Amino acid sequence: MEEWTVEVEHCKSPKEKPKTEELEFGRIFTDHMLVIDYTEPVGWHDARIIPYQPLTIDPSAMVFHYGQSVFEGLKAYYTPDGDIQLFRPEKNLERMNRSNDRLCIPQIDESHVLKAIKQLVHMEKDWVPTAEGTSLYIRPFIISTEPFIGVAPAHHYKLIVILSPVGAYYKEGINPVKIAVENTFVRAVKGGTGEAKTGGNYASSLKAQELCAKQGFTQVLWLDGVEKKYIEEVGSMNVFFKIDGEIVTPSLNGSILEGVTRNSVIQLLKHWQLPVTEKRISMEELYQAHMDGTLEEAFGTGTAAVISPIGQLSWEGKDLHINNGKTGKVAKALYETLTGIQYGKEKDPFNWIEKV
Ligand code: COI
Repeated sequence: MEEWTVEVEHCKSPKEKPKTEELEFGRIFTDHMLVIDYTEPVGWHDARIIPYQPLTIDPSAMVFHYGQSVFEGLKAYYTPDGDIQLFRPEKNLERMNRSNDRLCIPQIDESHVLKAIKQLVHMEKDWVPTAEGTSLYIRPFIISTEPFIGVAPAHHYKLIVILSPVGAYYKEGINPVKIAVENTFVRAVKGGTGEAKTGGNYASSLKAQELCAKQGFTQVLWLDGVEKKYIEEVGSMNVFFKIDGEIVTPSLNGSILEGVTRNSVIQLLKHWQLPVTEKRISMEELYQAHMDGTLEEAFGTGTAAVISPIGQLSWEGKDLHINNGKTGKVAKALYETLTGIQYGKEKDPFNWIEKV
């Protein structure tokens, strides 16, 4: 294997670390960042950890015009033994390459990038918060930097990794949220970019999010982009329901993001020998289950919030109150086991953990 080294430039004036009560999601960043350049025909080169700083990028850089960019999100956790560990980081880098493929961004060497991320996290280990429920959020992203405003795949990119000590993503934490089923806007369509983690998907979700927040909802439930009948995602998370004892989640169809937490939840449920099925689920079916009294639980899954129970779903003027607005047993067990593994408090039968 070719030599892979990461140059390091230490920052001269480290920032003060935030107090636990100051931690929210994604507003504070650590002292250093990782940068790797891509230039044709050389490929990815000049991996370096440098002080966290603003970028100097040409205003004609293609990313500003046509949004050729991808990102990932994963976390580093502080364990009771004082170790720092990552949860299935290789899954995020595999997905980054799938997103790269969809956005015509060159493939990365996943093992090189993972090694560099671990080096960065190790350097910033004092930034990993130790209070319960907190972690260091890792945000790798790639942008096209070539100065050109023609519509085409760029020839120059930057892969950057920044780190942010975080608390809970939703103020509700593990408490149930109120969700509105979105009937006007759609998140993605088959053949579009829904299964890629690209900024455009999130930009196009903002309008619905803004409108639902004005009506007192935390997020929207997205339906399919063609018939607006079938359930796809909730906010920026995958979604699961427990109906008559069976746990179901929409099957991957090209417009749903393949979440690492989604995959881990499915594996955990199978390990517990609980019935779990990936299938197409219509909103009508869900409503019927609610009317029959068989809709037992609903929850979102994602890296940022882990498990987010849904206490109320509003659809076409009808309010579906789920599990009396309380966190369900399955959601609670999943949250406790997943965070138990992530924080090194529970056995890791799947080898999901990678020490830094
Ligand atoms: C996640 O929870 O995995 C997300 O993608 C949320 C992020 C966009 C903040």
